[in-house]
Amino acid sequence: MCGIVGYIGRQQAPPILMEGLSKLEYRGYDSAGIAVHDGHKINMLKAEGKLKNLAAKLSENPVEGCVGIGHTRWATHGAPSDVNSHPHTSEDMTIAVVHNGIIENYLSIKEELSAKGYRFVSETDTETVAHLIDFYYKAGNDFFDSVFMALDRIEGAYALGILCKDYPDTLIAVRKNCPLVVGIGEGENFIASDIPAILHHTRDVYFLDDNEIAVIKTDDIKIFDREKNTVEREVFNVKWDIDAAEKGGYEHFMIKEINEQPKIVQDVVSRRIPESSDTIDLEGINLRKEDLEKINRIYVVACGTAYHAGLIGKHLIEKVARIPVVADVASEFRYKDPILDEHTLLIVVSQSGETADTLEALRIAKRNNARVLAVVNAVGSSIAREADDVFYILAGPEISVASTKAFSAQVVALELIAFHIAMEVGKMTKEEFAEIKEELYALPAKISTILQKDKIEKLLAEKYLQSKNVFFIGRGLDYLISMEGSLKLKEIAYLHSEAYAAGELKHGPIAMIEDSTLVIALATQEELFEKTLSNIKEVKARGAKVIAIALEGNDGFKGEVDDVIYIPRANKMITPILANIPAQLFAYYVAYGLGTDIDQPRNLAKSVTVE
Ligand code: F6R
Repeated sequence: MCGIVGYIGRQQAPPILMEGLSKLEYRGYDSAGIAVHDGHKINMLKAEGKLKNLAAKLSENPVEGCVGIGHTRWATHGAPSDVNSHPHTSEDMTIAVVHNGIIENYLSIKEELSAKGYRFVSETDTETVAHLIDFYYKAGNDFFDSVFMALDRIEGAYALGILCKDYPDTLIAVRKNCPLVVGIGEGENFIASDIPAILHHTRDVYFLDDNEIAVIKTDDIKIFDREKNTVEREVFNVKWDIDAAEKGGYEHFMIKEINEQPKIVQDVVSRRIPESSDTIDLEGINLRKEDLEKINRIYVVACGTAYHAGLIGKHLIEKVARIPVVADVASEFRYKDPILDEHTLLIVVSQSGETADTLEALRIAKRNNARVLAVVNAVGSSIAREADDVFYILAGPEISVASTKAFSAQVVALELIAFHIAMEVGKMTKEEFAEIKEELYALPAKISTILQKDKIEKLLAEKYLQSKNVFFIGRGLDYLISMEGSLKLKEIAYLHSEAYAAGELKHGPIAMIEDSTLVIALATQEELFEKTLSNIKEVKARGAKVIAIALEGNDGFKGEVDDVIYIPRANKMITPILANIPAQLFAYYVAYGLGTDIDQPRNLAKSVTVE
């Protein structure tokens, strides 16, 4: 959730750290700091608030040195403040640490060290790590052994970057349950929690595995396991373009990523269904007839927006393959003692591939011999590496905290999985698939059509900007898109918004409808249209303002709603991807009108690596 960057080489570290932090700010952003070794001692600067506050401090008090670590923080232990910002150091600045994750047993270690005379200045769990390494170091161990001894004591999840005053030529990095990569340069090396932070400098990285320690020097990188054995690791070459991590002329990453969707959807489809093919190529994914015959239970598990994509996946697998599927949020699933065995398929969905609850759901499944298929964006992420099979959506880096392009790509991926399963188990014929294939090929152009008319969503956002309560309603697949539309509005516009199955409204929530409550009614599933229309009439009769999202050519709304956003017609299983685009645009323009921090909404972080 926070961001880590580190540098060791021949150049000045501060500008490299600051540039790296600017690429990581989206991960966590209530404060930031750097620690730089000048060859004799460690100097540190920290500032609450956005990175520009740290930059201002740095220009007033420049620090110099060719080795350093930096951090952007999303507070977990202790409020955002200068003192709680990372790096944290031992009292005499012998050891400096940046940390992502949570040290679960920090209180008992803190008590123990306090009794030995250690003085703590922050409320964070991280400061304990700095003091603990310092304790072992002052007891006569070298830097490397002191880190190992501290690791034996701490419990929890962590990615760490560590400096020691007496080792100006060494940067140590540690990973356990929080992502960390080592970037390989020429005469310089890097660490980062996220690749964009170092992509300007190198495309070659080592992904650290859990419980690995990297000892990094200007011209050397060694990786060790917890038994101090050296580990050989293959170099991973990052393929995506640096532009993918830049705004490219758009005002916000979110609107840039919304506009990338036609291309991303096209890529997912064409990678898996070549033009000449009459099947779906799930090469490398074990979902053939004989694999499916061994499966008697399927779960789809994820968090947030990825969970909404998962719900659509569940709906479609059941609809086309006629196999029951249970969908659950990972934070619930992991504590439910789910029924799992070698006949279970767990499909996890995650953009970052690092979400702590989703990763734990995967691990529980694996411990119980279930098969795990991961639908993931971030290549080389923990979830991707630990799953049995991976369907990479390859949507490029998603920088906006609010997920948009990943959602569309996840839904396409899950649709392809559903259609593939249906064909394998004999529930979908090649002719039926040929029709779907045509629809999938036509999808990018239809998304573009909606995006080209985004003035409608902009005007409606301005018209309804003052709404205090919003309801999204729909039936079937429209209900699932309502959930996603409502989440987007909450997270970036901070508007109270709820999603309800349209038919459920009169069982309670309709009591909340009053004059001018905004209701966004999704009515794109033709066979349910009349039913949804009656629900629209019920809320209209109670004073609600209604915007409908509907299929082109449906004029059944005349006189029944205040405004309509039309989307192109498509196969009903594919329509949810189209129906979601106006909801994304509406949320974006409402947030824009309200002046919120769209790419970095308050209290949120991009990758939720804590429970
Ligand atoms: C919402 C959003 C979150 C994520 C959720 C899961 O816009 O981005 O709800 O979808 O935190 O994250 P991943 O997909 O990285 O596992």
